Amino acid sequence: MRNVTVDNITEVFSAYFGDEADPRSKEVLSSLAKHMHAFVKDVNLTHDEWRTGLKALEWAGQLTCPERNEFVLLSDVMGLSSLVDMVNSKPGVTSSSVLGPFHVSNAPPLEIGGDMRADFGGEVVLVEGIVRDAQGEPIPGAVVDIWQTAPNGLYSSQDPKQDTYSFHGLMTTDKQGRYAFTTIRPVSYVVPDDGPAGEILKAAGRHPWRPSHLHFIVEAPGYQSLTTEVFAADDPYLDQDTVFGVREDLVMHYVTQAAGTFPEGFVLSGKVDGEYSRVDFDFKLAAI
Ligand code: BEZ
Ligand code: FE
Repeated sequence: MRNVTVDNITEVFSAYFGDEADPRSKEVLSSLAKHMHAFVKDVNLTHDEWRTGLKALEWAGQLTCPERNEFVLLSDVMGLSSLVDMVNSKPGVTSSSVLGPFHVSNAPPLEIGGDMRADFGGEVVLVEGIVRDAQGEPIPGAVVDIWQTAPNGLYSSQDPKQDTYSFHGLMTTDKQGRYAFTTIRPVSYVVPDDGPAGEILKAAGRHPWRPSHLHFIVEAPGYQSLTTEVFAADDPYLDQDTVFGVREDLVMHYVTQAAGTFPEGFVLSGKVDGEYSRVDFDFKLAAI
């Protein structure tokens, strides 16, 4: 086509696909082009704005390394990561939520009743629950990968003062499908805002805060892997998570327990005299 116009460029784009193009690639790329073209027309994008966008991508490329993926962060702050989660979610099971860039694979095993605090002090939280199937039946032998921030708001991969697997653990559910551990209450924290994702937040007059959460990946043979986060109901940022990760079913309560009630069966049993908090959260997995 030699007469490409504002009105026909989207159709021309689709007409250029070769016969060997994979049908799904064709569908995805045609739709992407359709929405990008519509966006340019909608806002009457100027050359300067187009160049600013390209420079932001170039900067994201320069910042991206194994410890930091700025493209994932761009996707997160634009709501893309969460939307992909939601359009792929199944009804009747626990909602998925963003993985984030700070997960460290191959964490060491954490026994049931284990403690994630290492040598950090702070409010003790007892977290426990059952991994279930969609019908509510417990799943024994499910692997629960857990990670969170230290009390300074940093993940181990961001903080040279922490060991690689600080606040990371891999727990296997028992015959009743139960997992249980103690930790310190995670804190609200800011996502890295010194790159193009931060510039988007500033341009939009948005803050970079995420509400306090625990991260989980729950896996069991015969079930879809679940990547999710569990949020504290009283967190001030719960309704304004900068990466749009909060879902109603992922909000739980830290319930204060009286001194002298800390149960048996934990590494900390007999060592916690004062008040502590308790969080109960069950996961429901979708069958494959
Ligand atoms: C996180 O929860 O670790 C996270 C998610 C998205 C962007 C940055 C951090
Ligand atoms: Fe996080």
